[in-house]
Amino acid sequence: MKTMVSPSLLSANFIDLKSDIEMINKSEADWLHLDVMDGVFVPNISFGFPVIEAVSKVCTKPLDVHFMIQHPENYIEQTAKLGAMMMNVHYETCTHLHRTIQQIHAAGMKAGVTLNPSTPVCVLEDIICDVDMVLLMSVNPGFGGQKFIENTIKKIGRLRQLIKESGSQALIEVDGGVQAETAPRLVKAGVDVLVSGSYVFKSTDPYATIHALKELH
Ligand code: DX5
Ligand code: ZN
Repeated sequence: MKTMVSPSLLSANFIDLKSDIEMINKSEADWLHLDVMDGVFVPNISFGFPVIEAVSKVCTKPLDVHFMIQHPENYIEQTAKLGAMMMNVHYETCTHLHRTIQQIHAAGMKAGVTLNPSTPVCVLEDIICDVDMVLLMSVNPGFGGQKFIENTIKKIGRLRQLIKESGSQALIEVDGGVQAETAPRLVKAGVDVLVSGSYVFKSTDPYATIHALKELH
C-alpha cells in the first residue's frame, strides 16, 4: 500500500482557504486533516464547525477531523452531519473511550484514537480491535511547525507489534513535525498515514511535496 497523506489545514492560508482546498482536491492527497482546538485541552484555539462546514462544501477529499478538545463525545452527531470520514478523539480526554468509539461508529464515521507524546501505547491494549486508526502525536498538540519528538519512532514499533498481536486492522497515523527528514524514517518504522501541515502548505510546490510523501515506502 502506498503511504497515505493527510495535509493539515492548520497551516493553510486562512484568508484564501478556497484556493488551498482546491489545491488539495487536485493533488494526490488522500484526506484533509482538520485540527479542532478548544483552548482548554490544548493551549490554542483553532477553528470549529462553521469553518468545517464551509470546507466540507468545497473539499472533495475525505475529512480526517482531529479533536483536541474536552468532551469530544458531545460533538459526534454534529461532526457526522458535516460528512466527516474519520473522527479522532484524544485518549486523554475520554473517560469512557469505548462508549465514545461505539457512538462514533453508530453515527456512521470511522473512529480514531489519538495519543499525546507522553501517553504509552499499552493503554490501547483493550481497545485496539475497536478502532479504525491510532493517531500518534509526534509533537505536543496545539501548534503547527513544531520539532518532531524522536521517541515517536520507537512508539510506532510498539504500536505495530500490538496491532499484529491483536489482529486489529487499525491504521497508524502520525501528526507533527512531518517533513523531508522525518517522513522517510516514519514510513520505514511502519506508518500508514502521514499528517503534514507546514511542510506541505509552506512549500513552494505543494503538489510535488505531497507527491514526494506518497512515494515513500
Ligand atoms: C498540531 C496539529 C497538527 C499540525 C501539524 O497540534 O495536530 O495537525 O497542523 O503541523 P506540522 O505538520 O507543521 O507539524
Ligand atoms: Zn492534527
